[in-house]
Amino acid sequence: MASAISAQGLEKTYGELRAVDGLSFDVEEGTIFAFLGPNGAGKTTTVEILEGLRRATAGEVKVLGLDPWKQADALHHRIGVIPQEFRFFDKTTPREAIEYYATLFDKKADADELLRKVELTEKAESYFDTLSGGQKQKLGLALALVNDPPLLFLDEPTSGLDPHARRAIWEVIKEAKRGGRTVFLTTHYLEEAELLAERVAIINHGKIIAEGSPEEIIREHGTADRLVLEGPPALADHLAKTLGLPVHRENGKVVIEMSDKRDVARALEEADRSGLGWTSVSTARDSLEDVFVRLVGRMEEGVVRSGR
Ligand SMILES: Nc1ncnc2c1ncn2[C@@H]1O[C@H](COP(=O)(O)OP(=O)(O)OP(=O)(O)O)[C@@H](O)[C@H]1O
Ligand SMILES: [Mg+2]
Repeated sequence: MASAISAQGLEKTYGELRAVDGLSFDVEEGTIFAFLGPNGAGKTTTVEILEGLRRATAGEVKVLGLDPWKQADALHHRIGVIPQEFRFFDKTTPREAIEYYATLFDKKADADELLRKVELTEKAESYFDTLSGGQKQKLGLALALVNDPPLLFLDEPTSGLDPHARRAIWEVIKEAKRGGRTVFLTTHYLEEAELLAERVAIINHGKIIAEGSPEEIIREHGTADRLVLEGPPALADHLAKTLGLPVHRENGKVVIEMSDKRDVARALEEADRSGLGWTSVSTARDSLEDVFVRLVGRMEEGVVRSGR
């Protein structure tokens, strides 16, 4: 598979601040890549370098085979962008905005179809300054698609949207991928990244701290899957002794850390055999968000400690 984006040793400094500090990554054509990180991690800076809007201090970048800074004009015809905090002229309607973009790109755009896609049909003739935050984001996505680009940069496209509106945007993103487009996405909604992206990079202080599929990251950095039983404290002691697995009590429940899926059957058998009476059973596993919070938190603690 060819790379839509490839970055090697990317750096951006603002005075003393190393906002992007040696990033290297590849985004395969036709995939969704999610760029995650806490506020100020360097996501928007990176996205804007890739879009040719900011100049890298150092490093090699190729986007659709182009140098985004030196070949910005050529690149801008081939990418669709939703900037973080998308804004537009107040007294312009979504339909006019789409027509305006189409003229800019010298393309024919089907405004009705684009507005339908992002569920904005009933606001087609409303001024931008009367749209809700979510409706503005939806217009941003419609505009990003006007020039039918093979690559989309979506910087927090769903921030502040209600759950229904977010799902509508997810559908448009999935459809873009089905149509063969590559999507570079930043988001603070970890479940969104888990749901949409084949590959994820978590960055902090301008450096990648984890990369892979959501599944790989959870496997590598997450804790073991857990079996959770409701039962008396004695059950925890019994299972700890008989199973040889870590067992603890949490919120009045017995939590068994499994190392193998067969541990489920063993644990239930032992629980039954104990005669100690247990009621509900459920399983728990780390989400990408659990892993993210732990990784970033651990790093921040390290920074605080080493700073003293
Ligand atoms: N033009 C600029 N001049 C100076 N510092 C900047 C500039 N743009 C960004 N920064 C700093 O660079 C760091 C990275 O900012 P960036 O906007 O890339 O973060 P982000 O990961 O997109 O954060 P968020 O999740 O809040 O959008 C921050 O510390 C920010 O204050
Ligand atoms: Mg940002």
